[in-house]
Amino acid sequence: FNVPKPQNEPINSYAPNTPQREALKAKLAEMRNSVADVPMYIGSKEVRTNKKLPLTCPHDHQHILGYYHEGDESHVHQAIATSLAAREQWANLPWENRVAIFLKAADLSATKYRMELNASTMLGQSKNAYQAEIDSACEWIDFLRFNAHFASQIYAQQPESSDGVWNRLEHRPLEGFVFAVTPFNFTAIAGNLPASAALMGNVVVWKPSPQQIYSANVLMKVLKEAGLPDGVINLIYTDGPMTGDIVFKHPQFAGVHFTGSTKVFQHIWKTIGENIHLYKTYPRIVGETGGKDFIIAHKSADPKALAVGLVRGAFEYQGQKCSAASRAYIPSNLWKETSEYVTQFLNEIKMGGTEDFSNFVNAVIDEKAFDKIANYIQQAKASDKVEIFAGGNFDKSKGYFIEPTIILTQDPRYTTMCEEIFGPVLTIYVYDEDKYEETLELVDSTSEYALTGAVFSQDRYALEIANKKLVNAAGNFYINDKPTGAVVGQQPFGGARASGTNDKAGSMLNLLRWVSPRTIKETF
Ligand code: ALA
Repeated sequence: FNVPKPQNEPINSYAPNTPQREALKAKLAEMRNSVADVPMYIGSKEVRTNKKLPLTCPHDHQHILGYYHEGDESHVHQAIATSLAAREQWANLPWENRVAIFLKAADLSATKYRMELNASTMLGQSKNAYQAEIDSACEWIDFLRFNAHFASQIYAQQPESSDGVWNRLEHRPLEGFVFAVTPFNFTAIAGNLPASAALMGNVVVWKPSPQQIYSANVLMKVLKEAGLPDGVINLIYTDGPMTGDIVFKHPQFAGVHFTGSTKVFQHIWKTIGENIHLYKTYPRIVGETGGKDFIIAHKSADPKALAVGLVRGAFEYQGQKCSAASRAYIPSNLWKETSEYVTQFLNEIKMGGTEDFSNFVNAVIDEKAFDKIANYIQQAKASDKVEIFAGGNFDKSKGYFIEPTIILTQDPRYTTMCEEIFGPVLTIYVYDEDKYEETLELVDSTSEYALTGAVFSQDRYALEIANKKLVNAAGNFYINDKPTGAVVGQQPFGGARASGTNDKAGSMLNLLRWVSPRTIKETF
């Protein structure tokens, strides 16, 4: 069998006075006006505990969207045991049956659940309608459909045979359970980490970020309605370090599918190393972590295209995409015109809650993130080494709002040129237009990360120099475009160096990490 290559899910614009806009507004109102009760999902059970914690709205933090039930050690043990009990049947189900469940989940997400997925992401993670649509609808649907297609290609791969010998390759799942640890910033990524491992026949314990539980609940409803058998994916809301202590000491821990901070991922890797003698099989470690993503322009670049790239690349979803541009290198000859366009665009941008569809910038995820980002801005304000070129204001009285902020520096190694901030802060270094190659070296050596980056130039020789000098500086490299918004099936996504294991989400490369093939030789 072959699952045909899908088309990318078309993006809804939610233009005014369209039925889609009205439907999304109605779903937003319905969800805002009710108080959700969000259980954990372990096997067939919806698990409720006596520890209920609030799910709040980042742009209106006094508004409670619902409560989730926090679990303890016993729930981690239960989730592992339940996943292992489901393993044999799931692993032995012919793959077409597994694939069909995820294809059905894609269809349900594109139709019946599209508004709920988007509304939960808009309210719970403060994404505007467009950012929610490209994430919790399109990217999630694309992951499900493209992974089904890639899985069918993997299963079709067979070795050569010869007279009297028939060789087969069975793409078995891993022996044990997979632990999915998922981030707040993309509903699609949060869903894809458990779903892609499960698609390949694995059973999963899924621990989402607390800030994404509201939309994770919708993802889980979709998967269940699509027919995912009980116990294949078990969704728990438990303390991270406590959960890790149990999971990484379990003999049947078989792999971790992670997106989050470099610090946590390195801790996980070390812990797995320390416990390696406990496991039945060498665990797969797949992670996408931090970034300090760059834009560099050559003196031949188009200033308007560059300004669009800077503003969209740095400030969409408040700079909370791991791919967001957070440092830029602009040649001196282009600075004046580029900065005028940037100022014009920033003046056109509105900031506020997500239910007002005209807002481009919404709130950052929570108070901790707000305080960290605001602290970087305060330090920049106090420093005589840098200048605040745009924005610089923040206010958390109603929601966690931080203005899109641009810091100008003459020191290319100023703190905000080097450290990951994960917020709407872009630092720009204006370089001598004749020092392009030296500046490329600076781009490469300033950060430990290598997730995304972009070069703007209309000169092919300059592009080629950047291509060579930055060959290891970004897993996803963009030419004359912003460094965000990778599309499944088009730009497989992932970074190297301190940014992750570069197992390209949304590609066959990632799915291959979740199989442990068996070769069979039969002689006649
Ligand atoms: N895949 C997301 C992007 O490219 C992170 O922006």
